[in-house]
Amino acid sequence: MAVLGIESSAHTFGVGISEKGKILANAKEMYKITDKGMIPSRVAEFHSNNAKAVITDALKSSGLSLGDIEAISYTKGPGLGPCLRVGQLSALTLGEKLSVPVYPVNHAIGHIQITAHLSGIKDPLAIYVSGGNSQILGIADEGLKRYHIYGETLDIGLGNMIDNFARAAKLNPAWGSTVAKVAEGGSYLQMPYTVKGMDFTFTGLLTHAVKSLPHNSLRDVAYSLQETAFSMVAEASERALLLSGKRGAILCGGVAQSKRLREMLGAMSNSHGCGFFVAPDEYNADNGAMIAYVGELMHRHGAKPKNSELGIKQRYRIDEVDLRWL
Ligand code: FE2
Repeated sequence: MAVLGIESSAHTFGVGISEKGKILANAKEMYKITDKGMIPSRVAEFHSNNAKAVITDALKSSGLSLGDIEAISYTKGPGLGPCLRVGQLSALTLGEKLSVPVYPVNHAIGHIQITAHLSGIKDPLAIYVSGGNSQILGIADEGLKRYHIYGETLDIGLGNMIDNFARAAKLNPAWGSTVAKVAEGGSYLQMPYTVKGMDFTFTGLLTHAVKSLPHNSLRDVAYSLQETAFSMVAEASERALLLSGKRGAILCGGVAQSKRLREMLGAMSNSHGCGFFVAPDEYNADNGAMIAYVGELMHRHGAKPKNSELGIKQRYRIDEVDLRWL
């Protein structure tokens, strides 16, 4: 008996299936982002049009049928309202049809728990970097079991910052992997570097980098932007690792696909004798498997969400989530 999880917080409609901690399926369809960015109502329409096919696809690749599904989970937030709504309604409809429980999942918890599970590192420091989020976290268990945020971006997410730069530099496609390619072999230019304790900010760096573009080679600016931003995350993470006393670190979220960021954080962790792990890219990109996995933990460990909790929450902070069921 397995748990089916639905992810729809942004451009991806994903459906995963988890059974006894094993991922049996991770199907998805992704809305193609144009230079106009994402219009939430358009993306939600895309999700509605693809929901049935992606669910069918996941069931097919798992070799299971709907009758084998014992619970459904979905992303409650954070994310774009109209997009989250499609996943939530799909989950509630399926739950009703199959007469099985439905569990709401925090998107960030999904990324972190699937990575922690695959890493085998007990109670790791989690470095979560995506488009909208950049946080350094660890589980605190002081009566209430929750994620404690050691440090985070005080303005925009690391991924958004890099994507904004890519758009300003007219790169195509305008995202991180293109910036990384352009940055190869660049030379370092001085850039604003802002770490405040374990928090950091990116907008000053972005503005400076964009303003530097007309006077320097794109390669040097891209290289310097990347090196500076990743160093800021590495410095804050190092402080959090030492302060928390955790014995290992995991990196997750969309920007965890960056080779250079992995290299820096791996070297930092290893220099303190700590383990370091990054999950395969399919779990760093948005995916349904991580939602299915967390849904399975909630189901097996007796989480009992009330009907009033089965909604969506566009600004659903990770440190609000009660982790008693972990
Ligand atoms: Fe994500």
